[in-house]
Amino acid sequence: MKKIVFGLSLFLLFAKGLFAGEGMWIPMLLNSLNEKEMQAMGMRISVDDIYSVNHSSLKDAIVLFGSGCTAEIVSDQGLLFTNHHCGFGVIQKQSSLEHDYLTNGFWAMNKSEELPNPGLTVTMLMEMEDVTDFALTGVADVMTEAQRKEKITVNCKAIADKARQRSGFDAEVRSFFQDNQYFLLYTQTFKDIRLVGAPPSVIGKFGGDTDNWMWPRHTGDFSMFRIYVGNDNKPADYDVANVPYKPAYHLPISLKGVEEGDFTFVMGYPARTSEYLPSDAMELITEKSNPHRIQLRQSRLDIFGKYAATDPKVRLQYASKDANVANGWKKMIGESKGIRRMNGIEIKQSEEIGFTQWALANKSETANYTGLIPAFEKAYTQLEPLKIATDFQAEAGMGIELISFASKFRLLVDESKKASADGKKMEELIKSLKSQTTSFFKDYYQPIDREVATELISYYIQNQPVEFRPGFLNSINASSKNTINDYVNQLFDKSLFVNEMAVNELLTDFTMKKVKRIVNDPAYQIVMSMKEFTDNNISKSLKILNGSIDSLQRVYMKAQMEMHHDKLFYPDANFSLRVAYGNVKGFYPADGVYYDYYTTIDGIIEKDNPEILDYQVDTKLKQLYINKDYGRFADKDGRLRVAFAATNQTTGGNSGSPVLNADGQMVGINFDRCWEGTMSDLMYDPNMCRNISVDVRYMLFIIDKYAGAGHLINEMTLIE
Ligand code: ARG
Ligand code: GLU
Repeated sequence: MKKIVFGLSLFLLFAKGLFAGEGMWIPMLLNSLNEKEMQAMGMRISVDDIYSVNHSSLKDAIVLFGSGCTAEIVSDQGLLFTNHHCGFGVIQKQSSLEHDYLTNGFWAMNKSEELPNPGLTVTMLMEMEDVTDFALTGVADVMTEAQRKEKITVNCKAIADKARQRSGFDAEVRSFFQDNQYFLLYTQTFKDIRLVGAPPSVIGKFGGDTDNWMWPRHTGDFSMFRIYVGNDNKPADYDVANVPYKPAYHLPISLKGVEEGDFTFVMGYPARTSEYLPSDAMELITEKSNPHRIQLRQSRLDIFGKYAATDPKVRLQYASKDANVANGWKKMIGESKGIRRMNGIEIKQSEEIGFTQWALANKSETANYTGLIPAFEKAYTQLEPLKIATDFQAEAGMGIELISFASKFRLLVDESKKASADGKKMEELIKSLKSQTTSFFKDYYQPIDREVATELISYYIQNQPVEFRPGFLNSINASSKNTINDYVNQLFDKSLFVNEMAVNELLTDFTMKKVKRIVNDPAYQIVMSMKEFTDNNISKSLKILNGSIDSLQRVYMKAQMEMHHDKLFYPDANFSLRVAYGNVKGFYPADGVYYDYYTTIDGIIEKDNPEILDYQVDTKLKQLYINKDYGRFADKDGRLRVAFAATNQTTGGNSGSPVLNADGQMVGINFDRCWEGTMSDLMYDPNMCRNISVDVRYMLFIIDKYAGAGHLINEMTLIE
């Protein structure tokens, strides 16, 4: 893409309040306009301090943690901070009944106690390069969308291969601005990452799902890890002899805290946003797709909750599933509500009228955008039933645990049906299925799943027309819930996939003969019915439609940039390193209600309720509160702050991202967004969108005063 022209004076930019917190900027592309705005908002460093390839900069301290979170380096010995909920899976894996680190927390008192985590990696961005011209070499307007994609894929692979050889780093080309711009990313992935510290869940997950997505918040959502490397300071597989990583840069930590209005910025790995969709797409998501998905999840949560309330074992078994289902459920409710509150669809519609007028006035032989909006409308009308059908398959079909478990056996069946089945591959599949079987049954409670199945199937039949249901649903005599109940009971009575012993027996000495037992199983037949439906009725049309929507979206993005040539655009999130900047700020979530910008430990004590699992307060923490023993981590007024809210635009993947102050010093870790602002993935509202961060002083207080792990703090660079 050719450089965007920045004609607008800075004065105009602020007068229009163009960003005010909105934006996820590519660190390398933060330009003088961004810099001026950041400095006008209070920043005292330069963008060169944030990203540079000539000297160490902030970007050297930010890493992708695992495959879905962010972490930051906070000492010259590779010490990392991320969220507790990002480390959760790893901490759970390290836990046993004797060493229950999830419940009791974990603190390595010296390096030899730090725990290795096979499979866990962190990835660091070394450098970025605009390779748009190379990626688009040989691409012509006459090409079909498929030809175009293929050509670009080949180009990008060649670019990345060459870069890898030349640099010795990993390299990958990613598309930005809906395939209008391409960047080469050089990265390094570290593979020996050890657990250093985690607070108990009553602190790290305080508030749990009750408070999830909500402000005011009191969660100590952090955990600590360390990067280990070979003697050459380069990534290496786990080895006891590995040594702590010496980073090019580590974040200094400020003990000064933040005040309302302070400039902050967040650096991290946001996964996905869709800010440039047409109104039809926004309507499809918020008014057609979300409502069914919310309802289907609501049914499951109700059933989980009913059983969990009376049976502590079931409550534990379903805790993590419940958290996952609830996280998406709550997010979608907030998102649809938020778009309605801000009239998002109407805003987009009126922008589209303006766009078409502009397109008519500016149409030329080489650029005619007048047909774009009608083309979107047509495409999204066609997409709607297909999208809803896929939603139902995922949320209703696969929402039944029995069905999603049975679907895991498809690979095995497929492999065994091959003319020359690969014995080694079969062995691996069986091994993996055995371990999946163990973890499935550890947390499976059949009465819940039966009830879930009846609910989801009833909703499916009531809300999807015959032609958009997989065949098995149309074979059910669904005249009443009773008949559906009978169907479900038969299914569960007959399927072997509800019986751990039967599944283990199936997988022991697996022979081709046993394939038949899988294939004839009624749960597996449902899996196949869903697959057949997808293959025959959905996949092909969906692929074609998505192809044409992608190309419309590419042209629309380009056209919007031409139309608003004086505006700075930021690309949708795509799991690449971004910078979001804003101010610490409270907000009015509803008429007459004001939320302050910070919370304190007093709020934890206020919430204290032994009856509610999410609101249990640790006894030692209570004692520290009673003694007001906050040391140097207290605020000026002697209180201990826990969390704060700011206007930085963030999304999933930004969990664990450092929040930095005007001097580029760490003041907190991002871990959530407020509910009223969750529509920011589609449209940002400066009045409602707030990111939620845990105050770094609360984290240090927990490490020092609560855990007695002050040696970790001694490693850090504190700014008093
Ligand atoms: N809402 C946050 C996010 O989207 C936190 C999720 C984890 N916490 C929970 N209570 N489920 O990732
Ligand atoms: N909790 C989210 C995560 O895991 C971040 C919250 C958000 O979506 O903004 O990345």
